[in-house]
Amino acid sequence: PNIAVIAGGDSSEFVVSVKSGENVFNAIDTEKFTPWLVHMKGDNWHVIQDGNKLSDIDKSNFSFSQNGKKIKFDFAYITIHGTPGEDGILQGYFDLLKIPYSASHVQSSSLTFNKWFCNNYLQNFGVKMARSVILRKNETVNTSSIIKKLGLPVFVKPNAGGSSFGISKVKTEKEIIPALKKAWKESDDALIEEFIEGREYTCGLVKMKNKKLVFPVTEVIPKNEFFDFEAKYTPGATDEITPARLPEKLFKKCQEMSSEIYEWCQCSGIARIDYILKDNTFYFLEANTIPGMTATSFIPQQISAMGLTLKQVISQIIEEGLE
Ligand code: DAL
Ligand code: MG
Repeated sequence: PNIAVIAGGDSSEFVVSVKSGENVFNAIDTEKFTPWLVHMKGDNWHVIQDGNKLSDIDKSNFSFSQNGKKIKFDFAYITIHGTPGEDGILQGYFDLLKIPYSASHVQSSSLTFNKWFCNNYLQNFGVKMARSVILRKNETVNTSSIIKKLGLPVFVKPNAGGSSFGISKVKTEKEIIPALKKAWKESDDALIEEFIEGREYTCGLVKMKNKKLVFPVTEVIPKNEFFDFEAKYTPGATDEITPARLPEKLFKKCQEMSSEIYEWCQCSGIARIDYILKDNTFYFLEANTIPGMTATSFIPQQISAMGLTLKQVISQIIEEGLE
């Protein structure tokens, strides 16, 4: 079967996605599958071979031509963080074409990629999280009432985004407007969240047909002020400890919560849930349905800490998708 590993996309996370795509592409079992790397940016969709463009994709049926022969993809492995890979748009396209894919479906993706919608939804299940306000692009902002409600510092974030692009930790009232402007560059809505002082943890998981694999929890200790883009992608800028040094009860609690959130949000494929731990309570940060898959990302770390290989997990996801 021909497998498209799809990377790129139309957000600031393009560069991260290309790395995730490469790593997944290299982990595909070539004894079972024929992998192709597909890059997308805007209307430009093409197959990449040895770093060069091989052929344009025919969007009418997600195929391409090589030496006059048409190759149709049997499965799409999506590694686009942000739009259009993590918000459900590509998932809708593949649903229409009846091509199976690796990730959460349309509704689950669009819910989880909208932090405000996802937060409000998960509050129904008693999930704890920072209090927040949402601000539409260029809305009039009353900064003093926000501070009255949320205190200082606050985090200002794009409501739909990833890899910490557009995020600021704001310590004074006058920094709020510039931080909002930065967040609005990434997303139409911005979220202002109360600061919860604690430690950061993350837990990945994947549901297969007969079993759910909940990966070991990772403890994230950034050397920067917070886990920003630099801390995420500069080697050595963050200590990432898998399995996290947590009492067994809390470790299991984090895994259980991740499993519940995965179900409540009706995720599929690999997902990763992020938290802040304060006073033995996990505060939900976000659910990532296309989590980073670069060689140094959490999911590959967690899979290997479990004694599995990325190749094994990816093979099973593809095999089940093709059934
Ligand atoms: N958005 C990045 C890729 C992550 O969640 O891992
Ligand atoms: Mg994220």
